[in-house]
Amino acid sequence: MRILIKNGTVITAEGAASLDVLIEGERVVALSTGGSDVAGSWQAGADLVLDADLKYVIPGGVDAHTHMEMPFGGTTSADTFETGTRAAAWGGTTMIIDFAIQTKGQSLSAGLDAWQAKADGACAVDYSFHAIISDVNESSLKEMNVLVQQGVTSFKLFMAYPGVFYATDREIFQAMDRAADNGALIMMHAENGIAIDAIVASALAKGQTDPIFHGLTRPAEMEGEAVHRAITLAQVARAPVYIVHVSSSPALAAVVQARDLGQNVFAETCPQYLFLSEEDMARPGFEGAKFVCTPPLRPRHHQAALWQGLRTDDLSVVATDHCPFRYADQKELGVGDFTKIPNGLPSLENRMDLIYQGVVAGEISLSRWVEVTSTNPAKMFGLYPKKGSIAPGSDADIVIYDPLVGQTISASTHHMAVDYSCYEGKTITGRVDAVLSRGRQVITAGSYTGDAGHGRFVPRQLCQHLR
Ligand code: URP
Ligand code: ZN
Ligand code: ZN
Repeated sequence: MRILIKNGTVITAEGAASLDVLIEGERVVALSTGGSDVAGSWQAGADLVLDADLKYVIPGGVDAHTHMEMPFGGTTSADTFETGTRAAAWGGTTMIIDFAIQTKGQSLSAGLDAWQAKADGACAVDYSFHAIISDVNESSLKEMNVLVQQGVTSFKLFMAYPGVFYATDREIFQAMDRAADNGALIMMHAENGIAIDAIVASALAKGQTDPIFHGLTRPAEMEGEAVHRAITLAQVARAPVYIVHVSSSPALAAVVQARDLGQNVFAETCPQYLFLSEEDMARPGFEGAKFVCTPPLRPRHHQAALWQGLRTDDLSVVATDHCPFRYADQKELGVGDFTKIPNGLPSLENRMDLIYQGVVAGEISLSRWVEVTSTNPAKMFGLYPKKGSIAPGSDADIVIYDPLVGQTISASTHHMAVDYSCYEGKTITGRVDAVLSRGRQVITAGSYTGDAGHGRFVPRQLCQHLR
């Protein structure tokens, strides 16, 4: 199958140009300035011509932080790999990296096998895995080398959630030490979980049980402290570290300080920290539960610092941390006790559109939009230039994006398997028009034309973003 995308403006991390894109099978094979004889002959030989006049042609989004079918907080996140990756396609994301969880007492490989079984044959777009290490011991440390060989080159550890995923500083250091040897990237959930547990206990003792107390018991300083500690441990271990879901200015300040000193420290933020705030957790009744995620939403003034971090590359990636729970029968587990509200928000389908609003508002450039949503996550997690690029040899994961049409975000029209949207009624500019996943059209003129099972597991190289 030969596909020609003509008349569009190709936007990459490097810039913008009027280029026609020729695809053969699963790959991009050539780019040419529109209107030339070459493009004319391409058109004659094409099986399908997509006209991208007045539209952007961008590399498909790479969401490096999702949780499909994740057992958490006494329930399981609502999107399966099938529904979640279909929603990803609708939103212009053509690659996800999910987290395979090691159960305490079991091996990392058993966790990976379990997650491979969930995803195998179910995905609309390509996928890969990070591994969550819940049990740092001699055997799981050794196993990190095996997973790296299998293309699972990044490992998440938690300074939060004591009794669930929490790792001690000693364990974190041991995993970093191993990563310094085998080239893996340690991803850190950085919040001081031990101190937070004490704050939570004292709130509950005072009868403070509403959703807003989820936020008030996890102060930004507890995130800043943990980020600083994680960075210091990584510095001593001589390992690179990637801080996930940075939500606040103290956390970002610790990242900036380390990066200014030249340390290999990287960070992501998520749409919810750029667009939502603590006020949402304080909505009347139990509605605030819709906005409970960890780290929590912050007072609005943190948002300007995060946008600045995106401009300066102190925040290199925007990922969603997509971890959806239905309001009706899952979030309600926490009525009368905020600690029982399953933590996480849906936003996989909205990420490309939401971050495009940063372009509309003048916060970031078009190229930076592509860089933080596609190119940088691909480089960070060893997928570039297969993903995150439109160049000869790259996978034909391509989105045709219409920057001129408006849309209103709503649970009644989204495709995530969850009964609410954090952005309900928000009107935005721009919309995905067509999506190709490895040369296969998965979104065509407002319809889903993909298949569960088209998406493949992609083994990853080591981080390509080191300084
Ligand atoms: O609230 C969140 N973030 N849920 C998912 C688990 C995590 O910590 O990433
Ligand atoms: Zn986390
Ligand atoms: Zn997460």
